[in-house]
Amino acid sequence: MTDPGERLRTSLAADQNVGAEFDSPIAMEAMRATRVLHAADQDPFPAPGRIRVITIANQKGGVGKTTSTVNLGVALAMYGLRTLVIDLDPQGNASTALGVEHTVGTPSIYDALVGDNTLAEVTHPTTASPHLSCVPATIDLAGAEIELVSVVAREHRLRRSIETYLHELPAEQRPHYVLIDCPPSLGLLTLNALVAGDEVLIPIQCEYYALEGLGQLLSNIDLVRAHLNPGISVSTILLTMYDGRTKLADQVADEVRNHFGDLVLKAVIPRNVRVSEAPGYGQSVLTYDPGSRGSTSYVEAARELAHRGADLPAAPSAPVVQTPPPPPPPVAGPPTMPSVAALVLGEPMATPAPRGRHAT
Ligand SMILES: Nc1ncnc2c1ncn2[C@@H]1O[C@H](COP(=O)(O)OP(=O)(O)OP(=O)(O)O)[C@@H](O)[C@H]1O
Ligand SMILES: [Mg+2]
Repeated sequence: MTDPGERLRTSLAADQNVGAEFDSPIAMEAMRATRVLHAADQDPFPAPGRIRVITIANQKGGVGKTTSTVNLGVALAMYGLRTLVIDLDPQGNASTALGVEHTVGTPSIYDALVGDNTLAEVTHPTTASPHLSCVPATIDLAGAEIELVSVVAREHRLRRSIETYLHELPAEQRPHYVLIDCPPSLGLLTLNALVAGDEVLIPIQCEYYALEGLGQLLSNIDLVRAHLNPGISVSTILLTMYDGRTKLADQVADEVRNHFGDLVLKAVIPRNVRVSEAPGYGQSVLTYDPGSRGSTSYVEAARELAHRGADLPAAPSAPVVQTPPPPPPPVAGPPTMPSVAALVLGEPMATPAPRGRHAT
């Protein structure tokens, strides 16, 4: 069954047929909350064949990048997988939603990208799960797009930070998943995330302009693959803010599925007010209202992601950190927000090292 509306309705109907003891909405919700909170102990997600570094990107604003990063991250962690969320957006929304301090002066991703801090030094624990940590973003990051322009190997900064971090951690502490939340632009921050990742997850909002601008993102990913990171590809599309009451949502979902086929997760995230309320309490929807439709659908999406990851082949046997390529000569760029395409096509690029990350 590919129709997301149908799937949601079937899932709701299934919930409604679970027996007389769940015959009220409150009982139903309590039952769903119990499923989310306790299934984790009995039914952990499978570990991926190798460490998965997933860049969550879409230059369109407000499509659910941050919400998906945070809730998928919490779901993966609650179901037993060590997860690191990297907030790469100066807005710091992922940090807020995970209740991680991100006022000016807090050690943050800025200090690892522009400064000399290691990722370990700027990684914070979260209250959502002992398996989940977060590298927050402070407003300092807003200047990083400009500051990075004159930095040596500027496109590789995040990748090197992550590889060093993974290399220095004992195997049993290495995250299974690294999720990178991108800002709504195709500047140097997003470019760093595309160079650092192995996979791109694109959240697509089920609304009219959803596909606009997607071509630009995809061609930028192609450029990054050709010039900077041969290992990057779009692995996952997640339909977000699906509103089953509108025909439009179904039409958009169908169009996305026709275009992207199996890349699209079967789980669809409905528009759900609890999802939008949760960040206001510094929480994910899984901890704020575990029985809500938003929570259960993010658990389902994370489960699918994890099962796909379990089928990935292990990384080839090679050291976790490869010798980095010689840095490209520093090029003084224009003092404007450079686009990925301009950077890749307009200036000399280094060839990145092959990957060699291992899951435990
Ligand atoms: N499933 C949902 N149901 C209801 N509201 C949602 C849902 N997903 C996201 N939202 C709300 O939509 C808004 C945009 O979501 P979010 O911040 O995740 O998008 P984004 O792509 O990260 O935005 P930006 O491009 O600004 O970084 C937020 O207010 C969020 O709470
Ligand atoms: Mg965001």
